[in-house]
Amino acid sequence: MSEDNEKSVVRGLRDVAAAETKISYVDPAGFLYYLGYNIDDLVGSTMYTEIAYLLIHKKLPNKQELTEFSNQLYHEMYLPKEIVQSIQATPESAPPMAVLRTEVSHLGEFDPDEGDFSQAANLRRATRLIARVPMIVATLHRTRQNLPIPKPKKEYAFSKNFLYMFKGVVPDEKEASVIHRFMILHADHGFNASTFAARVTASTNSDMYSAVTSAIGTLKGPLHGGASEKVMDMLDEINLEEEVEEYIQGLLDEKKKIMGFGHRVYKAQDPRTKHLRGIVEDYCHRERSQGLYNRCMKIEQLVYQRKQIYPNVDFYAAVAMDALGVPKDFYPLFFASARVSGWVAHVIEQYEDAVLLRPKGEYIGDFNRPFVPIEKR
Ligand code: CMC
Repeated sequence: MSEDNEKSVVRGLRDVAAAETKISYVDPAGFLYYLGYNIDDLVGSTMYTEIAYLLIHKKLPNKQELTEFSNQLYHEMYLPKEIVQSIQATPESAPPMAVLRTEVSHLGEFDPDEGDFSQAANLRRATRLIARVPMIVATLHRTRQNLPIPKPKKEYAFSKNFLYMFKGVVPDEKEASVIHRFMILHADHGFNASTFAARVTASTNSDMYSAVTSAIGTLKGPLHGGASEKVMDMLDEINLEEEVEEYIQGLLDEKKKIMGFGHRVYKAQDPRTKHLRGIVEDYCHRERSQGLYNRCMKIEQLVYQRKQIYPNVDFYAAVAMDALGVPKDFYPLFFASARVSGWVAHVIEQYEDAVLLRPKGEYIGDFNRPFVPIEKR
């Protein structure tokens, strides 16, 4: 690579600002803002439905707006029968994230607003996706269990309905509070990789379903939303608290990454971690959760001592989901069920910005190589 190239390539787009945004700010000092509100003020004081409204309408709803938005979500929770049949036809071996990616793309074939790119149609589409991504997740889980999916209940808040339909059991107050907070904490996070992927797709004036499909494919990777499943693989491999030290030191000696740790932007603690740790502390009513939590605390200490890095959102999220009874291959789908509200908000903002996102690559290959016909190669 020439010296010039080394200077111009920003590896991993680290610290590159690709567009302006008003939706969320990830402060390296360890704060997160949605539309200017510090998440510490939102978690525990709002419901996920208010946050989804905030992200797409850019204001917190008043009571009447919240009721109307909740009704819209409720009416959009029914999937087209073709989608349900398609979910039922997926092979058992298909990874749940692959099914979600496919069925969100499939939803694009049933858009009642097809061809209408007005702001009103985009808001309807955004609301539809916020409602339907979790419904695909719940339908897939119930299908895999050979159980019917319950009908949503109008009197339940959206995230409580989601958990109810996923598990088929009415969540108690504590469980409903865990899922609200979990979804608020995962709703948006600046220009993370999946949001950026959604914005790149939207920047070509492609449709919202395509953008969200791109985002899901990007979230799936273990360096992003796939990390929480890997966290649980690790916690399952460490049987006893006494085994933690040897296991973690061993990984670090081999220069391996500890899943659920590190972050591209935060230089301090990820502000979502303290809330998720708190959720897990409140909610460790099962012996298994308590054991997982104890191992997590020890891992957190050891990784900080060796590397001075902190857990990210995926670390305690894995334990919170385990406590809720979510199977680990569905963890990234819960992440997607919340993050879809951020993705669609960013897609709308990208349409408003109306600029093609198209970087360049720094070419480091050869020029004018002598062409050899196939017979002579
Ligand atoms: N375990 C051990 N060391 C780590 C880790 C980790 N998880 N993360 C970063 N480091 C070290 C890394 O080895 C490097 O050290 P050195 O300078 O000595 O070589 C330094 O910290 C900087 O790491 P980096 O890989 O250059 O950082 P990045 O900004 O490119 O990567 C990351 C960020 C999140 C991809 C990375 O921290 C990682 O792979 N973490 C594990 C996967 C994970 O938990 N992903 C979820 C991310 S947050 C939620 C989300 O977006 O989904």
